[in-house]
Amino acid sequence: MSVLKAEALTKIYGTKNSSMTYKALDNFQLEIQEGEFVGVMGPSGSGKTTLLNLLATIDTPTSGQIEINGIDPSRLTNNQLALFRRRQLGFVFQDFNLLDTLSIQENIILPLVLDNTPVKEIEERLHEIASVLGIYPILNKRTFEVSGGQQQRTAIARAMIHRPAILLADELTGNLDSKSANDVMNSLKELNERQHATIMMVTHDPFAASFCQRIVFIKDGKLFSEIRRGSNRQAFFQQILDSLSVLGGSFDEIPTARF
Ligand SMILES: Nc1ncnc2c1ncn2[C@@H]1O[C@H](COP(=O)(O)OP(=O)(O)OP(=O)(O)O)[C@@H](O)[C@H]1O
Ligand SMILES: [Mg+2]
Repeated sequence: MSVLKAEALTKIYGTKNSSMTYKALDNFQLEIQEGEFVGVMGPSGSGKTTLLNLLATIDTPTSGQIEINGIDPSRLTNNQLALFRRRQLGFVFQDFNLLDTLSIQENIILPLVLDNTPVKEIEERLHEIASVLGIYPILNKRTFEVSGGQQQRTAIARAMIHRPAILLADELTGNLDSKSANDVMNSLKELNERQHATIMMVTHDPFAASFCQRIVFIKDGKLFSEIRRGSNRQAFFQQILDSLSVLGGSFDEIPTARF
């Protein structure tokens, strides 16, 4: 079953009357099936954040269609859209955006508390997500008492506790050292494999990307190429590096071997 479908997606920034228009996405298409773990990579300025903002329904396309879980967000009213975003989508960003006044556990369950979910159900879901993500031992700690990787896994737990149709992540390992990035990516992989979570992740980091099942490369707002992982992550890592060199453009960092 397809969870996400983007067809002929085009985004032009700037007004029609202005001469300063820029086509950030050009006839882009993407389909993500239920349970897939997809990475999106591309040079700086290629349209990754633009794509994510359209899929996250934070911004609207100039033309083209989006369907998430069978719903076309452009047909929803503002109130319906806010609810849709809260129920169907999960977000994780480079900054963890946790509330420092709350414990790890309180941060995770906040979306359910705000939704008036029964206590027993909250406890069950917390137990489940915390064990998948390996953060059970830190549930009663405060945000400043845990590592960056643990904070990001807390943010993932918070994004997933309401069981969204898809988790959208933007550079989620961007602020992490390699050990923490490894922990976070392993947790995401567990989430994908054990709970069949559908994940789409934008990243510059070939190491983080090597945990995905499929990588979609974007260039100048267009779909450039696509690769799928076999059984070996290290081989996939090399394949990603090769694809990036074909893609060209600027990348933030030269990857170092981390295996
Ligand atoms: N609000 C905006 N108004 C005008 N142009 C924009 C706007 N947002 C992005 N752009 C332009 O659209 C293009 C794509 O930007 P986008 O942020 O999607 O790239 P990106 O792939 O996320 O890049 P990076 O890897 O640097 O984050 C860029 O040329 C950018 O300058
Ligand atoms: Mg970006």
